[in-house]
Amino acid sequence: MTVTIKTPEEQDRMRVAGRLAADVLDMIGEHVRAGITTDQLDAICHAYITDVQKAIPAPLNYRGFPKSICTSINHVVCHGIPGDRTLKAGDAINIDVTVIKDGFHGDTSRMFFVGKPGVQAQRLSDVAYEGMWLGIAELAAGKRLGDVGAAIQKHVEKNRFSVVREYCGHGIGRVFHEDPQVLHYGSAGTGLELRAGMTLTVEPMVNAGKAGVKLLPDGWTVVTKDHSLSAQWEHTILVTESGYEVLTLSALDRLF
Ligand code: MF3
Ligand code: CO
Ligand code: CO
Repeated sequence: MTVTIKTPEEQDRMRVAGRLAADVLDMIGEHVRAGITTDQLDAICHAYITDVQKAIPAPLNYRGFPKSICTSINHVVCHGIPGDRTLKAGDAINIDVTVIKDGFHGDTSRMFFVGKPGVQAQRLSDVAYEGMWLGIAELAAGKRLGDVGAAIQKHVEKNRFSVVREYCGHGIGRVFHEDPQVLHYGSAGTGLELRAGMTLTVEPMVNAGKAGVKLLPDGWTVVTKDHSLSAQWEHTILVTESGYEVLTLSALDRLF
């Protein structure tokens, strides 16, 4: 396992990439309305990232992924491919944006609702959001990755939802997905010891039903095996001596 420690100069470039990724989500929010297709959301994000931000959408052609963002609706857990699906009232959609700027990646995702969400969809999104923040709160030099996973798992299961096991957070920097793997479940006090200068994502996927997932024949779209709803939020974070710095934080975060 090769975990990179970012220099102060590299940390500055991660801050820039992180802010740009958050800006894309801030921008796309008002477009998430009934009648728009996920292809249209992808086109708007692609144009903004390339033309306005002069950055690169990392998913495009990443291991053959055909679009610039991931759009995961309702029972889709992650890696949904934008297409001709039209959003309709009651849909819950995760939009996952990763940009590359000056050689460094910023990766963040949020849940959006079309019209008024159902009670369960709102509660699921809230628990995933709280779980992400409880995991982030564990980050500091000297803590261990198991502390992060345990905090998330405890909160999710207390609320009688389940944590997806097959996909996880990751180190991030010049490389989109680098070591370490950041599991969203586990035991406190175990796993890799964190050091200042590490940058990683925390991105729990939380299912309303059972934790099991299934990969669709398109090779990308991951859905819940039992077709229950799934929710996910993601931030990119820098580990510091005293704790953490969320690189993809938005002014909107305190409103969710
Ligand atoms: N952004 C996703 C993550 O959080 C990865 C998407 S890979 C893609 O790690 F190829 F599907 F875009
Ligand atoms: Co990620
Ligand atoms: Co992501």
